[in-house]
Amino acid sequence: MSFTLLKTDSKTKARRGRLVTPHGTIETPIFMPVGTQGMVKTLHPEEVELLGAQIILGNTYHLNLRPGLDVIEKFGGLHGFSTWDKPILTDSGGFQVWSLAKLRKITEEGVRFSNHIDGAKMMFTPEFSMQIQSVLGSDIAMLFDECPPYPCDEKYATESLELTTRWAQRCKDWVVANEPKSGNGKQMHFGIVQGSIYADLRERSAKELVAMDFDGYAIGGVSVGEPEHEMFRAIENATPHLPADKPRYAMGLGTPPQLLEMIGQGVDMFDCVLPTRVARHGLAYTLDGPIHIKNKQFEFDERPLCETSHPHVARFSRSFIRHLFRSKELLSARLLSFHNLHFFLGLMADARAAIEADRFTEFKDAFNARYHAKS
Ligand code: GUN
Repeated sequence: MSFTLLKTDSKTKARRGRLVTPHGTIETPIFMPVGTQGMVKTLHPEEVELLGAQIILGNTYHLNLRPGLDVIEKFGGLHGFSTWDKPILTDSGGFQVWSLAKLRKITEEGVRFSNHIDGAKMMFTPEFSMQIQSVLGSDIAMLFDECPPYPCDEKYATESLELTTRWAQRCKDWVVANEPKSGNGKQMHFGIVQGSIYADLRERSAKELVAMDFDGYAIGGVSVGEPEHEMFRAIENATPHLPADKPRYAMGLGTPPQLLEMIGQGVDMFDCVLPTRVARHGLAYTLDGPIHIKNKQFEFDERPLCETSHPHVARFSRSFIRHLFRSKELLSARLLSFHNLHFFLGLMADARAAIEADRFTEFKDAFNARYHAKS
């Protein structure tokens, strides 16, 4: 398992890399479709493969709650259970506890909470999160962190990042002691840089995690309600302190223009529920910006959703997909999810090609000009 930096763009910090994991090689920059419950919502694994997805994301919090570790363990892990045999990254659960669970109480030991399904009281600790992820057998496991809310004062952000650093050490100690095996090789572990909107705290968090030497580094605590410029600043404040020879992952982001902006800042990996979530609400991404398929203007529109649509979806007119959506047919959610992921994954493929050709800025500017022209 390794990360190889293949090329850095000469005018930006955009990077073209290759990450080798137990279940396959990932060409970066990459977008990871989210499969909270073990598979991307509404899609069949063969469709996710058809999309060219190189890795998907699963959630420790949800999978531990339901179906429970004993079930997944019986299938030898999440790959066997879901039948997805390409790489999987699992989030550690801290963020999901923060956003979903009730009655949360954070202590040095971990997070105590009532789960969002039946309200039962539970406890997540760094060790338990790593243990769950070891059973899930993901290729990349995220460390257990605290994601501070926005806004958050400097005192809270400081104490929170100190806790995240101490928890990172406990995660590492658990991994060293237990050496979790994942599939045909060892699991990778990524630390998560916190520090809210404070530049010195982002730097400190990054340096403390880097000193512990993880396989990769994520930037967390972004897209939690802060203005977009603060989000970009958080990325800018963290990346200079991360090693060039390890992958960098911005968690839970973003729109197509935001992804390009962050690629230009040297981020290699992204995940977001956005393309599949908005699909279920009838939104489709196109090169001319997003469109709401329910709009009357598409009633007689014979064109596919976008000129770059995958043939799997391009056979259908906007008119037909609009009809399915208005009729509340499940196929509309499936087609729009497939389409939006194809758009996001295509954007990554184009970004990789642009970096290779050393014309990332030109590519980004041309994409943005057209994307925003009609808005
Ligand atoms: N997903 C989006 N943001 C975060 C974060 O800050 N921490 C974790 N663990 N997951 C996230």
